[in-house]
Amino acid sequence: MNIIQVANYEEMSKHAAQYIIEKVRANPYIKLGLATGSTPKRTYQELVKDHRENGTTYQHVQTINLDEYIGLPKTDPNSYHYFMRRHLFDHLDIPSEQIHMPSGTADDLLKECVRYEQLIKEIGGVDLQLLGIGQNGHIGFNEPGTSFKSRTHIVSLAESTRIANSTFFPSLEEVPTRAITVGISTILDSREILLLASGSAKAHALKRLITEGIHEEFPASALKLHSHVTIIADAEALKFV
Ligand code: GLP
Repeated sequence: MNIIQVANYEEMSKHAAQYIIEKVRANPYIKLGLATGSTPKRTYQELVKDHRENGTTYQHVQTINLDEYIGLPKTDPNSYHYFMRRHLFDHLDIPSEQIHMPSGTADDLLKECVRYEQLIKEIGGVDLQLLGIGQNGHIGFNEPGTSFKSRTHIVSLAESTRIANSTFFPSLEEVPTRAITVGISTILDSREILLLASGSAKAHALKRLITEGIHEEFPASALKLHSHVTIIADAEALKFV
């Protein structure tokens, strides 16, 4: 794992955006795996700014998002569909048919898992997967204990994850209890992975990721099984390393 330490959230975002922009320019047909959460928000703003100012085009790019809450329609402001449109897709020139996200409202959720996994294969897999990290080490919504062999699946969210994510909801009760997420094995199939982390809330998770072993109780440790992982993290997130 290649670790790049930066000063703060702003620098992490600029650095990450530049990293992604260079990949998009080098390969206009790139398949980008995308994440939600507070971590990549500013990175997305930078991508939008660059698209406006420098004309980097996403006309041929395909995006594959990691996860979605079960039960929230695409129009719900807390759905990841809504988040992605608001922070990124509505501001780029990417055709909507090239945007892929798992549906949290499909009638048959198991079929939806199979469809999503198949789709990733059909489009040729993810070239660059952007990841955040949960305080408990989750990646996507793969909570501690998830098999490293997992493919797209339905998960029950850890209480700590629901609490961490409740800041976006009116109350904790309204945070969904389940989600659909690509699996750890699906993530590891990506040709390259870029993990971002900022702030002291992530410091324990980063210490564990960087200094401890590989274990299913700590999902992000699976990344050590991958040969091309870059971490961009700020000083606060790396303070225990
Ligand atoms: C969320 C998402 C993850 C994200 C992580 C960290 O629950 N499912 O994809 O990386 O938790 O979120 P944040 O960036 O808001 O700290």
